Amino acid sequence: MDKVEPGRAPVYEMLEQYRAKGNLSYHVPGHKNGEAYRFSEGAGFLDEVMRYDVTEITGTDDLHHPEGVIQEAQELAADCFGAEMSFFLVGGSTAGNLALILTVCPEPGMTLILQRNVHKSVIHGLMLAGVRAVFVEPQIDPVSGLAVAPAAETVQAALAAYPEAAAVLVTMPNYYGMGSDLAPLALACHTRGVPLLVDEAHGAHYGQHPALPAGALMCGADGVVQSTHKMLAALTMGAMLHVQGPLLDRTLLRQRLAMVQSSSPSYPVMASLDLARRLVHSQRAGAFTAGLAAVDVLRRGLATLPRYGLLQPAQPLQPLGGGADAAAAGDTPPQGMAAYCTQDPFKAVIYDAAGVLGGFELQRRLEAEGIVPEMSDDRHVVLAFSLGSKAEDSQRLLDALRRIAAEAADCPEGASSGTSARLHPGEAEASASPSQNNSTWNIFTDALISKPVQFSLKPVNILQTESIRLEYSAGRTAAEIVIPYPPGIPLLYPGEKVTKDITTRLIGLRQGGTKFQACADPALQQIVVYNIKKGGDV
Ligand SMILES: Cc1ncc(COP(=O)(O)O)c(C=O)c1O
Repeated sequence: MDKVEPGRAPVYEMLEQYRAKGNLSYHVPGHKNGEAYRFSEGAGFLDEVMRYDVTEITGTDDLHHPEGVIQEAQELAADCFGAEMSFFLVGGSTAGNLALILTVCPEPGMTLILQRNVHKSVIHGLMLAGVRAVFVEPQIDPVSGLAVAPAAETVQAALAAYPEAAAVLVTMPNYYGMGSDLAPLALACHTRGVPLLVDEAHGAHYGQHPALPAGALMCGADGVVQSTHKMLAALTMGAMLHVQGPLLDRTLLRQRLAMVQSSSPSYPVMASLDLARRLVHSQRAGAFTAGLAAVDVLRRGLATLPRYGLLQPAQPLQPLGGGADAAAAGDTPPQGMAAYCTQDPFKAVIYDAAGVLGGFELQRRLEAEGIVPEMSDDRHVVLAFSLGSKAEDSQRLLDALRRIAAEAADCPEGASSGTSARLHPGEAEASASPSQNNSTWNIFTDALISKPVQFSLKPVNILQTESIRLEYSAGRTAAEIVIPYPPGIPLLYPGEKVTKDITTRLIGLRQGGTKFQACADPALQQIVVYNIKKGGDV
């Protein structure tokens, strides 16, 4: 590309031209520009979208071999997000995580260092690639009890213990928008000559405004996956994979992307990626002014509502650019970095500081007020803002919070869900500890650095399993994957020991009304475990 033109949206422009031509379609997709739905319900919506839903024909380019508008759009994305190369993903960050793992571990039995509390797409990537996984414990924020990312020292120690490791993968920010400085982790990886991969699904907007934390690329990460549809404005499934540096094999990566993505990628999704990028690229920090103002309204309102707490790091937010300079300079990673030093302002994590309402109950009450949060845990409710948020919406939220506080003040002690005892403001923070936090984000193994766990695609032999009551599962070995959703972090994978802690947490989540994916009993009264008497392998 000769000249960067942030105001352009090549895929979208091509689609507009395509639409204006009014061509007769003798090609797939079969809905024929939405004509198939002309007498059906939903035609209004589908009609609009489907007019843009083309495929790889002359002039529309090809995601898997981009030479025209898609290539141009991806180059613009690389410029906007600070990558050397960017790839559009039409299967969400899921596709990006799968492709990255299949690239760094191209053969079964290769070692990857990662935290255990990862999204299911990462666990699925381990299975697909036949990875030998070494899990490193994330650091815990002592105030909220929530896991963030592993310390650089832990990553360094794991790389020393497993020098054959092909890469390190971390998630940053977490689902709550909490993060720490990734630069020391990048440095630890680069010192050993391995890439740092970051699942930045929740941080597509990072680094785009001084009030937002630095993005993973700025901190020196080599491969970064972002769900543009989550915290920026692409259509659902629209995501991006960004790469920089010499440590990732880009030819192999392209091939892996072709393996995990459709050969008929959605043009509306790609055009929305183009538009989402253009919004940020052309307006830069200005794109976030209204959204950040909406957050500010909430913050100021909450300051007058001591009943609610707002999760914040103890120390000031990390400056834009992170510690990338230190990483580039080749310094030793700083020791003892704070577990939690950056908070996404667009993730407002609130809780009842009086401890009357648990997070699940507060979410239920907000939903009854017509306000639908992103997720909740035992204690917290996560409210996701974006560049599309409005100040008046924050006012409505504050009004609802006021009403809820007034109603819940009369609750008899112990009537709430989630927290067992009534706490006074401030006590909730003081009493939080990792073991008390039932967040599905928190998963701990029994060591700072686990023994290697071999993943494979070998199916579970159901003849070697049995279904038992969840209450009796501690000490057994899981024979199914159990995924509370959201946020989609598997609390158990087949072959993993069911600890007492996990059983207790699953029971708590079940009581809180959490939905479970992938397990045989979605209500999780029963759980499938191996039975040694039937020849179960554990
Ligand atoms: C941390 C994390 N990584 C990856 C994903 C997958 O993202 P997508 O839904 O874009 O495939 C999610 C989805 O919630 C996530 O929370």
